[in-house]
Formats: sequence, structure tokens, C-alpha cells
Amino acid sequence: MKSKAGIFPTLACADYLDLRNQIDIMDRAKVASYHIDIMDGNFVPNYCLNFDYLKAVSSYTDTPCDVHLMTGEVERDIRTSLECGAAAVAFHSERTDLDIPALLRMIKSGGAKAGLVLSPHQAVHELEPWLGMTDYVIMMGVKPGFAGQRFIDDTLDRVRTLSSLRLDKGFPFRILVDGGISFENAAKCVSAGADDLVAGALCIFSKDGGLEENIDRFSACLE
Ligand code: DX5
Ligand code: ZN
Repeated sequence: MKSKAGIFPTLACADYLDLRNQIDIMDRAKVASYHIDIMDGNFVPNYCLNFDYLKAVSSYTDTPCDVHLMTGEVERDIRTSLECGAAAVAFHSERTDLDIPALLRMIKSGGAKAGLVLSPHQAVHELEPWLGMTDYVIMMGVKPGFAGQRFIDDTLDRVRTLSSLRLDKGFPFRILVDGGISFENAAKCVSAGADDLVAGALCIFSKDGGLEENIDRFSACLE
């Protein structure tokens, strides 16, 4: 039987003024990884968390931190992510100017898991050349840049396509769905083939409930 999906809280949605308490709650709930979105205002039109924040969180908790880079200077920012304690780093595969295999190798040789991100406008088969060398794929459920957006429905089909490609080729990468995950669509993502889910404004950080209560409710959706 497939094990329960990993919960990756996106710290962009956390209460920054209550971060220590929120991390303690999430650690006790045994979340799988803290998802750290790093943006530079250029690759996407927004700013988000930064490397000091990553360093503070990764030195406080034993729960791994995974970095989702949405920046122009990918090589530099991979290096900084590794220095600041990232256990996993992913960057966007639509970047045709990058030597993707070399960057994946750089992440792995720094002792972290290497991930590639697929944006909603990209076809799943664009990832094929690198699927044998990536530890995980972040399948975006929204256009990258902002938390709290509505889930794009055809993401489920895209997860199914990626999951059957994985089965056909026998690759071991994990599928992490990021953006718009809610109490309603979480189980559908898992049935489509997702192994892990980024949990944000529409589920565990929803203002309709407290964090502990929301995590319990979200975990129940995954059973
Ligand atoms: C979007 C980010 C997501 C975002 C998810 O660019 O990559 O990680 O924080 O937040 P929700 O779950 O609220 O869409
Ligand atoms: Zn993200």
C-alpha cells in the first residue's frame, strides 16, 4: 500500500510573528518538509522568503527544508541554499539558458535532493530528458509567484501523465504538487499520483481554523 502523502507546509503562508510556535506545532505533527519559496522580483513579479529566513528555520528544526527557487541567478542561489541548510533544492525547468544536468549534479553533490519545477504552461514531456536524474518534480498547481491562488484543474491530468511516465520508464522521482492545494483537492492529487503536497493558504494556514486543527483536518483528507 502506498504510504500517506507527505505534507510540505509553505512557510510563505505562516504567521511570521508567531513562527517559532507554528514550527513547534508542525514539528509535533511530523510534517515532511518546510517549503521555502525564494523569489527575486524578476523571475516572478513578487518577493517572498529569503536565505536568512531559511538559515533561521533550518538551524532551529530537525524537519528538512526544501527550497523552491524562483530567481534569475540559479547557480548562485543553489549554492546559497546549500550553505543555508537546504535539504532539497528545486529550480524551474523552463529556463532554456541553464545547464540543467550540471545544476542537478551540483545540488546532489552538496548533499541535498535535486528537484525540477514544471510550470502550468509547460507540457509534461518537456521534462523527459532529465527525469532519470531528478529526485523530485514540483508540479505547479498555479502560476508561480503568489500563494492563495485557485488550483488549475488540469493539473490533475498533468500529474496522471507524469505518474504514468514514471511508471513506464521506471524512474524513482517523487511528485510534489505545489499551489492551490485545499481540503477538497488534496486526495484527488494523491489519487492522480502525487507523493507529497505543498500545504498553504487554502488548507493548513486557512483562517477558518487554527493551525493544529487544520493540520488534523488536512491529514484526515489524506487517509
Ligand atoms: C507559488 C508558490 C507556492 C505557494 C503555495 O509560487 O510556489 O509554494 O506558496 O501557496 P498556496 O498553497 O497558498 O497556493
Ligand atoms: Zn513553491
